[in-house]
Amino acid sequence: MDLKLNEEHVMIRDAARDFAQKEIEPVAEHYDQTGEFPASIVKKMGALGLMGIEVPEEYGGAGMDTMAYVLAMAEIARADVATSTIMSVNNSLYCHGILSFGTEEQKRTWVTPIASGQQVGAYALTEPMSGSDAGTMRTRAELSADGDFYLINGRKSWITSGPVAERLVLFAKTDPDATPRHKGITAFLIDTSLPGFSRGKVEPKLGIRASATCEVMFDDYRCPAANVLGKPGDGFKIAMTVLDAGRIGIASQALGVAEAAYERSVQYAREREAFGQAIGGFQMIQQKIADMKTRIEASRLLIYQAALAKSESRVNGRRYTTEAAMAKLFASETAMFVTHQAVQIHGGMGYSKELPLERYFRDAKITEIYEGTSEIQRMVIARNELGLR
Ligand code: CAA
Repeated sequence: MDLKLNEEHVMIRDAARDFAQKEIEPVAEHYDQTGEFPASIVKKMGALGLMGIEVPEEYGGAGMDTMAYVLAMAEIARADVATSTIMSVNNSLYCHGILSFGTEEQKRTWVTPIASGQQVGAYALTEPMSGSDAGTMRTRAELSADGDFYLINGRKSWITSGPVAERLVLFAKTDPDATPRHKGITAFLIDTSLPGFSRGKVEPKLGIRASATCEVMFDDYRCPAANVLGKPGDGFKIAMTVLDAGRIGIASQALGVAEAAYERSVQYAREREAFGQAIGGFQMIQQKIADMKTRIEASRLLIYQAALAKSESRVNGRRYTTEAAMAKLFASETAMFVTHQAVQIHGGMGYSKELPLERYFRDAKITEIYEGTSEIQRMVIARNELGLR
């Protein structure tokens, strides 16, 4: 694995860090407390190319590679995980799927406004009764007799950016009797301004509160047949392919928040005194610092490995499912471990809203849940290793 960053990587990492520390970090607490969607920040991130880092410039993106994406994502998350979630969904779950499976016309029409940050995209897979077992979805899309459109009915839950998204990639059953069941699922491109689409209440959440989440409902929504993404029946594979890319982004978010918590902890351990010395002089604190640092660096290596595997997959066509799942699993559990230790090192100040440690701790938790729980990542890794499918 060649870990040397090139000039372009250093440039995007530094630009993202500069932007995040100047424009996001100072307002992150405000957005966390109010739960407001950071619309103006998203627009500025679009102008910097951060909403479509791997999207070719002709479709409104920055035309960079996956390593650039993970570096930038970690920097945004270091300032605010919620903002990085909006960025992650636009980049991976929305744009990546359309770039990989869309027609030329679909790429131009559906990717450009999202990659440039003018609009927000979302990904609608989960349903109230279908989470980890994504193949059990019930949302139904029926082709009209003339074949011109699909009539869509159903509801999707936990949709990140759902309250504001202008566009969605939606997964629905076109053939509920298909065997195996995943062959009956199709992906659709949804314009949320059309009749038949509605949104539920914004979900109140433990963390990433500025990343708006809600249920979305389809009630006789007419989706033109031209807006099928890929082929009818290929929806489940599209959903899984897109999640492979998405999981690398979530791992990078986890790395970013872990780094933020770690840096503050080192600083605090150097400055805070107890029993006549800086607390960093105590072996119990040193053990925490050593474990935090080691897990962070191990996460970084797994993320870089997954990013390189994804870039290479464009050439060799090989799936990077295991690399992505390992990066997400390890980095998200590291984020939870590190933010937990960081709160502990800070004692009462770690529990206080005077410092961002408690926000990091709340925000880190989601990385173990969305885009596939840690249990699902373990299942994916083990099945692939054991050749169980
Ligand atoms: N890439 C391409 N194809 C894949 C694939 C992948 N990574 N994984 C599976 N497939 C294909 C298989 O090859 C198979 O096709 P064939 O039969 O033609 O070979 C088909 O998909 C079915 O595969 P499985 O039998 O393995 O499917 P399964 O029903 O057992 O489910 C699973 C597998 C891994 C558990 C899957 O359901 C899963 O990932 N669940 C988690 C769902 C998830 O991550 N949800 C997150 C929601 S989005 C979100 O969180 C966004 C947000 O808020 C930010």
